[in-house]
Amino acid sequence: MPRIALIPGDGIGPDVVREARRVMERVAELEGVPLEVTQWELSAERYLREGVTITDEEFRALADDYDAILLGALGDPRVPGNQHARDILLGLRFKLDLYVNFRPCVVLDPAYSPLRSIDAGVRLEIFRENTEGLYLGMGGALRAGTPDEIAIEESVNTRKGVDRIVRAAFEHARGQGRSRVTLVDKANAMRAEGNLWRRVFADVAGGYTQVTTDAMYVDAMVMDLVRRPERYDVIVTSNLFGDIVSDLSAEITGGLGLAPSANLHPGRHALFEPVHGSAPDIAGTGRANPLGAIRCVSLMMEHLGHPAAARRVDAAVAASVARGMTTPDLGGARSTEEVGIAIAGLLAETAEA
Ligand code: NAD
Ligand code: IPM
Ligand code: MN
Repeated sequence: MPRIALIPGDGIGPDVVREARRVMERVAELEGVPLEVTQWELSAERYLREGVTITDEEFRALADDYDAILLGALGDPRVPGNQHARDILLGLRFKLDLYVNFRPCVVLDPAYSPLRSIDAGVRLEIFRENTEGLYLGMGGALRAGTPDEIAIEESVNTRKGVDRIVRAAFEHARGQGRSRVTLVDKANAMRAEGNLWRRVFADVAGGYTQVTTDAMYVDAMVMDLVRRPERYDVIVTSNLFGDIVSDLSAEITGGLGLAPSANLHPGRHALFEPVHGSAPDIAGTGRANPLGAIRCVSLMMEHLGHPAAARRVDAAVAASVARGMTTPDLGGARSTEEVGIAIAGLLAETAEA
């Protein structure tokens, strides 16, 4: 029986995870998928109360005892520097070696895009490197607080690390029949890592001759992404650029509230989370859009080997949107909970794919 760990986290995390759980349990019932769901308290609240972010024992249990993890969001203004979020979220990504951060952005309804017009077929699939780059905390500060202060943040790029994420992007493109893979970097300014990524990209691309490739500098690429998003299919990039490009891609295709993501070590571990954060500005108001978290359930069902359950969730999400059952960020008047209940109800009406 698949074992699922839920980590609601902070801010709107618990609100959206509650609705994702509702949808997950209902679709599991309809599809006859037995699930064992366990909720974990890893949050700012616990950190403030106990002074503990996450223990080695908890990392071990999350790594060994579960088939998938669903996380809401971490980040709380009461924790300056968000030490707990770094320990828990980045800790899980690094310790479980979740090197693929897969962020698919699709158009649910062209009306939600801030672009004047968007092709309804736009589907941007970002493969963000998730274990290296500028996120490792390599470096440090010298003479902090003085006029001579120095802060150094080093970008770590290993050949193995670059190779495995680039390969994951090409494998996906071939498997899903996507025609283009775009490498996004800043090779004109960051020469050492740019050189490594471009060589590895060209080497790997050689094995996928049916896929069109290009390599673009991130500044030009984000400009072009706004101008003609339909040109892009699969995007592969480093940790920091992937973070930025995925928020932009989510917004272009309809909003941060709708975007799901998967953190994967293929064949070993999987952690799903909406792309958005804990949104302290709307926490506790019932305005959080649960669609990003609910669409994580679709990615999770697919990952667990239940594609019919995944399609059923996708169809119920599409049906709720078509009926205007949305939160205020999408122009609707429904609460987080109302949207969750509506989608859970629509699951039964949705024919299996
Ligand atoms: P954010 O994604 O939380 O919010 C950005 C904007 O989008 C806000 O205006 C917010 O109200 C809105 N928004 C986000 N999710 C929404 C939703 N589901 N429905 C409706 N509106 C939504 O980004 P931020 O404000 O930069 O970060 C807040 C905190 O979250 C910080 O502590 C940050 O570090 C953390 N964070 C965590 C994660 C994660 O856990 N994966 C991701 C991003 C940010
Ligand atoms: C995300 C978030 C995280 C990241 C933060 C909270 C460290 O923005 O998942 O996109 O940058 O990876
Ligand atoms: Mn982000």
